[in-house]
Order: sequence, then structure tokens, then C-alpha cells
Amino acid sequence: MRQSLVIANWKLNGDLALLDSMMNGLSSQTGYVADVVICPPAVYLAAMQQRSLATATDSFKLHVGAQNCSEHTQGAFTGELAPQMLREVGCEYVILGHSERRNLYAETDALIAQKVATAQQQQLKVVLCVGESLEQREQGQTLDVVTAQIAAVLAADVDASQLIIAYEPVWAIGTGKTATPEQAQEVHAAIRQFLNQHSGVGEHIALLYGGSVKADNAAVLFAQPDIDGGLIGGASLDVEQFRAICSAV
Ligand code: G3P
Repeated sequence: MRQSLVIANWKLNGDLALLDSMMNGLSSQTGYVADVVICPPAVYLAAMQQRSLATATDSFKLHVGAQNCSEHTQGAFTGELAPQMLREVGCEYVILGHSERRNLYAETDALIAQKVATAQQQQLKVVLCVGESLEQREQGQTLDVVTAQIAAVLAADVDASQLIIAYEPVWAIGTGKTATPEQAQEVHAAIRQFLNQHSGVGEHIALLYGGSVKADNAAVLFAQPDIDGGLIGGASLDVEQFRAICSAV
């Protein structure tokens, strides 16, 4: 049985007030099928852990994740965050390879692969983001692009069976132009087939969709056979929207 996950990527947004309202909102409605993960800006991770532990019940525990981490574990790397340090403040998950890291901060496939290897060595669960640009989709390159991004990581010293992969078409991120369920399912099925062919683990890996997931489209996306949950940006900053998305799995 594959894990179902709904992960909030707050990006550079939020504050302690949102953290408290989100914690209260989520913990007051339990019975989620999916594991719920919040990835706030790193400065809030310790506060998130404290509140998560304080609100944990037998039926619900909020999980905490980071939005990035270094490929290093220590040394002269100003501004970086080591994966084991993230673990110390309660992180279980880390998002790596997000298109904003690739496009705005020039993170290459090789660097992302190194980050994945280091994060797994330090016992973080990696959410690897892949996705094509609008131009690449229009040129019919979608599957080549996403499988090449995955292959670059599989070529490193990683445990493929522990990966969580988020398909996030760049043209759907923050645009309101959500991929159709059919578009998303097609890519997810191809990713699963690629993982089966190259590492034999495709059936066990959670594949998440990200890109303008909202309360009114989450259920039809998550109903697709190869979509195991979502990686949520803007809608994860609204308690009611995010609660509805968590309940849609
Ligand atoms: O990592 C999730 C994010 O990129 C999706 O953003 O605002 O389209 O849900 P959004």
C-alpha cells in the first residue's frame, strides 16, 4: 500500500500566527487518510515541531519538513542548512529540486542528486520535484524531461525505494492553470513505469502532483490511480483550503 501524502510548501510565506491557526485548524479535524506535512520557512521549524508535539493525538500527528537542504553536513558553507540539523528540529521530510530552486537559484541535476544522497544518509525522507516548462510540453518533451531529472538522481548513491516524487509542471505552479487529471495521470503513470524499469520500485513510491491544486480540484486529481497526494503551494496558506485538500485524498 503506497503512502498518501499532502505536503504544504509555504515557500517564502507565513508567520507564527499562520502556524498557530494552521495547527489548530488541522488538529481540530482528524481522520485524514493522508499523512499531512507542513514545510514552513526554516526559521519556523522548531516552533512547528513544538506545536506538532503539543497537538499530536492517537488519530493525528502533523509532520514537519524543510523546503531545501545543503549537500554538505558541516563546514564553511555560509547560509546553508545541513540535513541532520533539520532532523534535530523535528524535520522528517525535505523538498529537493523544486523548479524555483532549479530556475531561480541555478540548482543543477547533479547538485540535486548530491543533496538527495546526503539527505537520505541523514535519514530525511526526500520529496524530489520534477516537471517541464510550457515550452517543453508544447514541444512534446515532457516525459523526456521528467525521466531525465529522475535518472540524474538515480545515478547517485541514493535509495530509490525511499524517494517520494512530486510531478510539478512548471507552467501550473502559481498560475491557476492546473494540469487536467488526464495530463497529470499520464505523466505519473510514465514516471511509475520508468521507476519500475530502472529500479524496480515504481509500485511502492508515492507520486504527488503539484501545481495549482485547490480545494475544488483536489479530489478529482487525487482520484487518479497514479496520484498519491499533492504538493501544495498557495492553497496551503489558507487553513480552510488546505484542510479541504487534506480531506480530499
Ligand atoms: O511546491 C508546490 C508548489 O510549487 C505549487 O504551488 O501555488 O501552484 O500550489 P501552487
